[in-house]
Amino acid sequence: MAEGSANIGFGGNGADYPVRSGSVGPDVIDIRKLYANTGAFTFDPGFTSTASCESAITYIDGDQGILLHRGYPIDQLAEQSSFMEVAYLLLNSELPTAAELDKFSYTITRHTMLHEQLSTFYRGFRRDAHPMAIMCGVVGALSAFYHDSTDIADPRQRMIASHRLIAKMPTIAAMAYKYSIGQPFVYPKNDLSYTGNFLRMTFGVPAEEYEVDPIVEAAMDKIFILHADHEQNASTSTVRLAGSSGANPFACIAAGIACLWGPAHGGANEAALNMLREIGHVDRIPEYIARAKNKDDPFRLMGFGHRVYKNYDPRAKVLGAAATEVLARMGKSDPILDVARKLEEIALTDPYFVEKKLYPNVDFYSGVILSAIGFPTTMFTALFALARTVGWVAQWNEMIADPEQKIGRPRQLYTGPTQRDYIPVDRR
Ligand code: CMC
Repeated sequence: MAEGSANIGFGGNGADYPVRSGSVGPDVIDIRKLYANTGAFTFDPGFTSTASCESAITYIDGDQGILLHRGYPIDQLAEQSSFMEVAYLLLNSELPTAAELDKFSYTITRHTMLHEQLSTFYRGFRRDAHPMAIMCGVVGALSAFYHDSTDIADPRQRMIASHRLIAKMPTIAAMAYKYSIGQPFVYPKNDLSYTGNFLRMTFGVPAEEYEVDPIVEAAMDKIFILHADHEQNASTSTVRLAGSSGANPFACIAAGIACLWGPAHGGANEAALNMLREIGHVDRIPEYIARAKNKDDPFRLMGFGHRVYKNYDPRAKVLGAAATEVLARMGKSDPILDVARKLEEIALTDPYFVEKKLYPNVDFYSGVILSAIGFPTTMFTALFALARTVGWVAQWNEMIADPEQKIGRPRQLYTGPTQRDYIPVDRR
């Protein structure tokens, strides 16, 4: 095998395939010519061995439990930066200067209002609609309201659409919540921070002034940072796949929201807190550990395990510490936190979880904090979607600008009937 290449042979057709190295991480074998050379496809359901794109945004080392955004460790960003700074970083490759951050925050703030007609759109939903159902619908509908930013060939329109999406997500999520509890929508207020504004739109009422609690604001901002991007996860890959056909950005992000909703992905934060509440007391933990290990029981420990992390999810580490601190600073206590801590302790020493390298993930502790802030569990995944929109638009922009980008079109291993003749219904 020549250096920098991998020899792959099949059906008597051996050939060298280029091996490409990233700045860090495993090499990739470029098999784009494999089918042309051998007539065979690769088979990789769930993409466990497949890099679908080149990207310079986020790097994960799952064995070491490392997560970097544009090279910066997630714990440093979570402890020292703000969500607006991270959004700028993900979109623009570098951390902003103070002036750049001011300008970016100003631009995002000026896009927070929704077209007024969209409020009537909400009224078409049942009051008990899941906020994620509303998010899918309303974000998809943005393409019907902002025609001047749907030309994906125009970089300026792409950036305006990106700013609009980041800016409007808090408004859309807060309105979904307000609608579900029958309170009037609260319009954005420009002198508040991105996160403070979201809290006011969610928990404020027109009848009185709302004062943003700085402890809650900081906790929420940290949660947003920790959810901002995560490389080529299922929803991001969905956004890229939808975008690869040339679909407009609002439609692509709506597709990402739909994918995120599932309990194996973003829906796990809601499922994790529901599970902790169901367990209710540390005495019941063994019962649930036994269920998680039972092959005949579909139950899984929600908030545990990850496709990429075979070590502690670094986001869970930050959130685990934050949960204790935030609750203490808010003067609240929650028995669920004790259940979570004990469950983690038991799972981390149980041979089943140790052997399978199952550690708490980002969704394990986030719910405890969100619940203390006052969000119902149904809002948890909507908050994930709000934050992940930053990553989705950064990845979507990177994809559109990539000269190697092609429409995503996987192949298959066909196992259906071979060709046969149609038989009219009266002769079947
Ligand atoms: N509880 C019990 N067993 C588990 C769990 C769990 N949470 N997660 C994985 N396993 C077992 C699984 O049964 C399998 O065992 P075996 O090899 O004997 O068949 C083994 O571990 C590998 O699991 P897998 O399903 O093949 O792994 P995957 O990489 O396809 O799935 C996952 C990853 C996150 C979907 C899975 O760990 C899971 O369902 N976790 C619970 C849901 C969750 O917390 N999701 C949030 C992920 S992080 C945030 C996000 O990405 O949105």
